[in-house]
Amino acid sequence: MRSQPRIATRSDIPPFIVMDMMRAANEKAALGEHIIHMEGGQPSTKAPAKVIAAAHSALDHDRLGYTDAKGLPELRERISRHYQDRYNLTISPHRIMVTTGSSAGFVLAFLSLFDKGAHVALPVPGYPCYPHILRALDINPVFIETSGQSRWFPTVSHLQDVSAKHGALEGLLLASPANPTGTMLDAPSLQKLATHCASNNISFISDEIYHGLTYGAPAPTALAYNKDAIAINSFSKYFSMTGWRIGWMVVPDYLVRPIERLQQNLYINAPTLSQLAAIEAFDCIDELENYKNAYEINRDFLLNELPAAGFTKILPADGAFYLYADISHLTDDSQSFARLILEQTGVAVTPGQDFDAARGHHFLRFSYARSLKDMQEAIKRLKPWINSR
Ligand SMILES: Cc1ncc(COP(=O)(O)O)c(C=O)c1O
Repeated sequence: MRSQPRIATRSDIPPFIVMDMMRAANEKAALGEHIIHMEGGQPSTKAPAKVIAAAHSALDHDRLGYTDAKGLPELRERISRHYQDRYNLTISPHRIMVTTGSSAGFVLAFLSLFDKGAHVALPVPGYPCYPHILRALDINPVFIETSGQSRWFPTVSHLQDVSAKHGALEGLLLASPANPTGTMLDAPSLQKLATHCASNNISFISDEIYHGLTYGAPAPTALAYNKDAIAINSFSKYFSMTGWRIGWMVVPDYLVRPIERLQQNLYINAPTLSQLAAIEAFDCIDELENYKNAYEINRDFLLNELPAAGFTKILPADGAFYLYADISHLTDDSQSFARLILEQTGVAVTPGQDFDAARGHHFLRFSYARSLKDMQEAIKRLKPWINSR
């Protein structure tokens, strides 16, 4: 008789509920239902025209072989120029690693920085894959419960509190603008955290994937305040290239070779076709700013209309394309509530449990990355549904 098949405990991590919601929504859409997608952090816009043209040309003319593990030199030079243009920072292409989306960047950062059992602080609510990846690598996430008072970000005193409780922290990871709240750290607050980390031997990993998608002041980079910070970024969001699976990371000199070795062994290189196309992305700013302006219009529309539809407790967001709503007056179980909304209105949203295991049952995340027409349709469906409850 065959014994019980073996499954490693490393794989025993929670699902990424957004992806589960997306699957449920897509299954309904496949049956012919008109679904409004507000669950995923996925632009409905295409990649910029020049990116698509470069991909066509690469398919026709390029061998699409492996690249240098760190990525194509032309792309790394272009990314370096982007730091000069956007942040007025000189970053040597030597310190830039092209990755398979920011998702691969997290794995490379965690493996290069933390040994088994290390403690890495994460603000909650936050992007669910951070703790899931850490757990799969036997690294301990240390959750910092934040509130609207600090605009859902940790402060230095939070870091001191968790260190007193759990022992020295090896790392801090956060995204600004943030998912799921859309809030952003201003430069002085980011600087305080970054310098605290630098002087307490805490590696600071800054997920900058939503840079470019801010509706007031631009987002500052942690690289300006902490020379050892790792900045992780991606072409997925601002550049509207989710499925191209391409991103990058900026790492301190001493991590270049360790991360290069990890990349060689784990991934070899980020997809060559996407690398060749991504070189063009930085020269498509007009097109991308139009996308961003459309998100801003969506955001303003929802901030006006969601309260009228019963979602009255929303923290105004500075960036990304999310609104995080407190729905404690509507339910104690946001997961069932989100399923019911999908079932009965065809609007897909994400329950807060994905982002905050302890308090997420009282929250929903709305993504406004789709068209204004979709946002209008969502409100048209949600208003009578909530009001009839
Ligand atoms: C905060 C944050 N970081 C990283 C990712 C993953 O992005 P990528 O497509 O670059 O792997 C996401 C995706 O939603 C995200 O919201």
